[in-house]
Order: sequence, then structure tokens, then C-alpha cells
Amino acid sequence: MIEINVKAGAAAKQRDDAVVLPILSERKLTQAGRELQAATGKNIAQYLRKFDHMGEFGDFGMLYEVEGTFSQRIVFLGAGDEKKLTLDALRRLAAKVSRQLEAGGSRDISMYLTELSVRGASLADKVQAVAEGVELGLYRFDKYQTKKKETSRSLRSVTIMIESRKELSAAEAAVNRAQAIARGTNFSRDLANEPGNVCTPEFLGEQAAALSHKHLKVTVMDKKAIEKAGFTALLAVNQGSAKEPRFIVLEYAGGNKSDKPVALVGKGLTFDAGGISIKPAAQMDEMKFDMCGSAAVLGIFKAAIEMSLPVNLLGVIASTENLLGSAAYKPGDIVTSYKGITIEVQNTDAEGRIILSDALAYAAERKPAEIIDFATLTGACVIALGAQASGLMGTGNKVIKGLKKAGDHSHDRVWELPMYEEYQEQIKSEIADIRNIGGREAGTITAACFLSRFVDDIPWAHLDIAGTAWNMKGTDISAKGATGAGVRLVLDYLLNRR
Ligand code: BES
Ligand code: ZN
Ligand code: ZN
Repeated sequence: MIEINVKAGAAAKQRDDAVVLPILSERKLTQAGRELQAATGKNIAQYLRKFDHMGEFGDFGMLYEVEGTFSQRIVFLGAGDEKKLTLDALRRLAAKVSRQLEAGGSRDISMYLTELSVRGASLADKVQAVAEGVELGLYRFDKYQTKKKETSRSLRSVTIMIESRKELSAAEAAVNRAQAIARGTNFSRDLANEPGNVCTPEFLGEQAAALSHKHLKVTVMDKKAIEKAGFTALLAVNQGSAKEPRFIVLEYAGGNKSDKPVALVGKGLTFDAGGISIKPAAQMDEMKFDMCGSAAVLGIFKAAIEMSLPVNLLGVIASTENLLGSAAYKPGDIVTSYKGITIEVQNTDAEGRIILSDALAYAAERKPAEIIDFATLTGACVIALGAQASGLMGTGNKVIKGLKKAGDHSHDRVWELPMYEEYQEQIKSEIADIRNIGGREAGTITAACFLSRFVDDIPWAHLDIAGTAWNMKGTDISAKGATGAGVRLVLDYLLNRR
């Protein structure tokens, strides 16, 4: 695990493998750079002209063993136009440079990124963004690459340099918060990146149980317990699989005893082949990620424990595979859900909403303050919003508003789609209460309409993370594979909830 420290002090005095200095557009130095120039008597500005590209966002250049300094390398990192800087830009810069220096063999580095000014951001915000960037950017999932694992060296410590000692304690608190958030995100990524033969419903149950803590109670129901409890919709989807389903309940007591919990509900499809309405073969391997909703829930619980989040939480995860065994549920079947609502199955590939119907109904029964669900629910959401925002829908105006704010602040972004009453008509069934598909139009919304039938009058927000939960190209802060979408978002929301 990487160590992240905060410290105030001059660049020339640090003894590290690398000292990172930001450079603004047009090769402009920042305060730390000017001080380095004064302390060493070197014309740093002149060095900077030697790099073909320096100053634009992401530019990277190094000088070794600069006279008058004690570090092996001075690293210049282009930060672009200061007026355009955001917390997300800081997070990305920290991620990029950490990865690059780790690849170059550095073990201990310090960086002067928080002196960059970001409109509306406090020092704590900036420290948090940088620390998150370090932890998120260095994440790798290479446990199955037997050779690579033996040879790679890791970064050991990152020191985030700040300007004044007076702000050390606020900055340290920000680092702790960032580490809890990022480790929760990375835990979520780890679960999701595991292949489907390892990450089974049983495995998810074990991982949830392993989180147990004095403020967290975890209940994992096996198939027998699920049958007894009557989670019949989950059982219907499970029929085609040789593996048992799991229904997981987490209760975290971080708030006042009398506070109603916030319920977090996750879709835990450990592999979605589509069932009898089978998916095409291309990229079907990616359907191991169909449990990212449940991974987000578990990541949030992990972070909540680590940061002693002062909120009560109820977690509910329904988990199964969606396969084609001879007992598989079929198009045309009618399933009576836990809540008693009957569902006409017109497409067995629209299974997420079916298992979530039981998880949401159970959560609503517990009368939480509000419900937030996470699900890789619709391909239509990938088409509508791509990888840049999760779809947000629901009935709880306050929670929806809060999530939008949290999305902007954490840059784990959301975009609201409307839930007009008229859309509900698309899921009418001729022979049951509702059907599980709503036709080609507005597929993301009609899936949410389906879910809305199971939450009673509890304020509810639904996050469709189908486009954001994994990224096969990778991003500045996420390696290829699972991104941990929803974790930063909802932790930001819970931390600022009133
Ligand atoms: N897990 C998929 C949704 C999905 C598709 C997520 C692609 C990420 C990428 C879900 O279970 C599904 O198959 N949904 C169907 C619903 C349709 C049959 C109404 C879909 O979106 O195609
Ligand atoms: Zn499906
Ligand atoms: Zn699915």
C-alpha cells in the first residue's frame, strides 16, 4: 500500500527520487519553481526551453541531479492554462505523473500540485483530488499476469507539498478522506475485474462478509434462505445457472441510532449471457462486469468503515448469473416477485430489473430515508451517454439534486433523464401486471419505470452505470477494465448530505 504524506517546504531541499513541479502554459513557472530557481541560482526557465513541448496539460520533462538540489530528478509537469484548471485536472495530473514515475523506477516522490489555483476549491479539496489521483492512477489488476508481477516495482511514498504549515492538519484529513474513497473505489474495481469463474455470487457473499466490523453487520443468504424469504424474482433468473444465487444485506451503523439509513442497492449479475434470449458473442466477455452495481455498493461500505462515515447505511445486493441451463426461465414466463407484482418475461436478457425488483422491494420494506440503486442496466444508456456520465432517474427530488451536485464535485458524473408518467405505458402487459421490456424507445427510462414499481413512496434515485462502470480503453485515472463508477459519487453525496 502506498504511503501519502503532506508537508510544507522548499523543492530544493527535498530528498526524493523525483520532485514534481507544475509548469503552466507558455513555460510559466509556479511559486515552487521560482523558489527553486532562486535557491539553486539556475535559470530553470532556460532549461524549460529545451523541451519541445512544455506547459500544456500533461507535458512531461525531467532533469537529473540538478546542482543545488538533493533529489535525483526534477520533473516538470505541464498543467496548461491555470484559468481552466479544475479539481478533476489535478486528479488526472497526479494520476498520470505517479504512473509515469513508477514506470521509471521512482520509489519516493514529492509533488507541488496544490499551489495551482482552482476556482472555488479549498486547499483540502485540492489535496483530496491529488491524493485520489495517486491512488486511482496507480491501480492495476495484474494478479493473473504471473511474469509481470515478479518484475514490477512500486511507488512507495508520495509527499503532497503544501505552502503553509498552518494547513497541515486540514490537508492530512483530506488525505485520509481521499485514501478511504480511493481504496473503496479500488476495492470495487478489484471485485469487478475478477473473472466470472472466480467472482461468483458465492464469492461476492464472501467478500461482503469479510468486510464485517464492529459497526457493520453482514447477512449473506444462500439459495435455501432466499427461497424461504421468498425472493422469487431472483430465483427465476437464477434457474438457468448451476451456481447458487446470493442475497446480501449490509447494515452499517455510523450515524445516530434514530437516523433512518440510506439504502444502497446493487445489481450483482456475475455473468450475463442474456439467458435464453442469448447475447451475441462479440464482447460477451465484458458481461462479467454486470455486477459493477454490487461492487459499487461494497466499495462504498468499505470506504464508510475506513472513514467512519457518520451516516447509517443499509446495503442490499441481489446476485446471480444469467445463463441458459435447461431449467432457465424463458421468454413468455410469468414471474411473481417478492412484492407480489407479476412480471411477464418478454426477454430474458432484461434480467437486471427482475432481480432488482426483489432487492428494491426488500429495501423499501425496511423504510430507509431514501434508496439509491446502482446497476449496469441498459445498453441504451451506453448509447445515450457513453462513458462520460451515469444515467440518473428516480422519484426523490432531494436525493437527485444532491447526486447531481456530488457528480459535479467528485467528477463521477451523472445526467438526469426524465421519468414522465407516459413512459410507464411502455411496460404494460396484456397478461401480467408489467412486462420486463418497454420497446426500442427510451430503453433506459422504461427500465427505470419498471424499477419504480418496487420502491413504494421512499425517495429513490436510480443510477444506470452501464456506460461508466468499465472502460476498455482506460482513462487518466482508471486502468482498462472496471472504473469503480458510483463510489466517489455517492461518497461525496453522503459526506455532504443534510
Ligand atoms: N447487462 C445488460 C445491460 C448492458 C448492456 C450493460 C451493454 C452494459 C453494456 C442488461 O442486462 C441487458 O442485457 N439489457 C438489455 C435490455 C433489453 C433486452 C430490453 C439491453 O440493454 O439490451
Ligand atoms: Zn441482460
Ligand atoms: Zn445484465
